[in-house]
Amino acid sequence: MKAVLLAGGFGTRLRPLTVNTPKPIVPIFDRPFLYHQIDVLRRLPEIDEVILSLNYQPDRIREQVGDGAGAGLPIRYVVEPEPLGTGGAIKFSEPHLDGTTVVFNGDVLTGIDLAALVALHRERGARATIVLAPVDDPARYGVVETAPDGRVIRFVEKPDPDEIRCNTINAGIYVLEPDTFDRIPPGTKYSIERSYFPSLVERGESFVAHIERGYWRDIGTPASYRQAHRDILEGRCAAPPFAGAPGDRIVADGAAIQSGARLEGPCFVAPGATIRRGARIGPGSVIGRSVVVGQDAVVGGAILWPETVVGDGAVMRQAIVGHRCRIGAHAELGPSVVLGDDSQVAPYTRAG
Ligand code: GDD
Ligand code: MG
Repeated sequence: MKAVLLAGGFGTRLRPLTVNTPKPIVPIFDRPFLYHQIDVLRRLPEIDEVILSLNYQPDRIREQVGDGAGAGLPIRYVVEPEPLGTGGAIKFSEPHLDGTTVVFNGDVLTGIDLAALVALHRERGARATIVLAPVDDPARYGVVETAPDGRVIRFVEKPDPDEIRCNTINAGIYVLEPDTFDRIPPGTKYSIERSYFPSLVERGESFVAHIERGYWRDIGTPASYRQAHRDILEGRCAAPPFAGAPGDRIVADGAAIQSGARLEGPCFVAPGATIRRGARIGPGSVIGRSVVVGQDAVVGGAILWPETVVGDGAVMRQAIVGHRCRIGAHAELGPSVVLGDDSQVAPYTRAG
């Protein structure tokens, strides 16, 4: 069985972080995001290959993830010549599929039990099975209504407010039968949400929903990306490096904490990072590989990507900072700051 990860989007809502780092390899702590998805896929032993469906910066992903040895499942790269949309991308992957297929949106973090999902799909003899998640703000998702027996009766992508009649949304995880892809025109932009799913409903084909009550989040905005880290740090999402327990301080081997630096958990310091004298790392902070936090600096819940240097006395509150940034001494950056790679912040700057 193959799994398709739809990972060709531009990650626009995560810009500037995604300018050089496509969403599938945005780091969650110090692992590329898609490794967390592959952790979930690996729990279904039938899956023998992950098809990464890409078009945006495929080489950056290939450089980092290679053949999948580090992720634990073989990876095949399928690169569209141009973005074909979610349905077009699945159709483009079809020659590599071998029957019932698991499909994941490339930006959802979840601990779902895929074996149970595939079992449900088979028991019901479904043509398609979809995972739904209950949320407070359905408008920015695909809203899915179901009948009491679990059949999908309506699918509306990004509904207008007056179209929302329930709080269950498309979680971006499907089990699909490839012989239903006959309706997708090859080589054409086609949305699985706007065209394929509504057509299953219209034609009365067996389209089944599973409502997932466990952890689920789309990491596609800075706020939700930050929240995903919080959820792992605080034990709501069982993922490395905290594995489901409310976290303490995790300091990787090869990180240097100088005397007089203080770390308050839950927080994470990656290998090669240096926390200088008098610096304070507060709860919720994520310090990436080879980051340097200067003397007496304060990191209060910020996420710092590898090789960033925080100047002496700087204060970083919940900002998200890309690779190799230089934060001048005594700068103060607040929660709305998201810095792209290689940003330079002058000493004493105040922002956010
Ligand atoms: N290969 C490929 N080609 N992948 C694509 C393309 C494409 O042209 N367009 C989007 N994708 C990938 C994105 O990389 C992402 O992983 C996934 O498809 C979904 O696209 P998003 O841009 O993240 O969509 P969304 O978050 O607005 O909405 C989707 O996800 C929601 C759940 O998070 C929809 O599936 C909604 O129905 C759903 O509720
Ligand atoms: Mg998304």
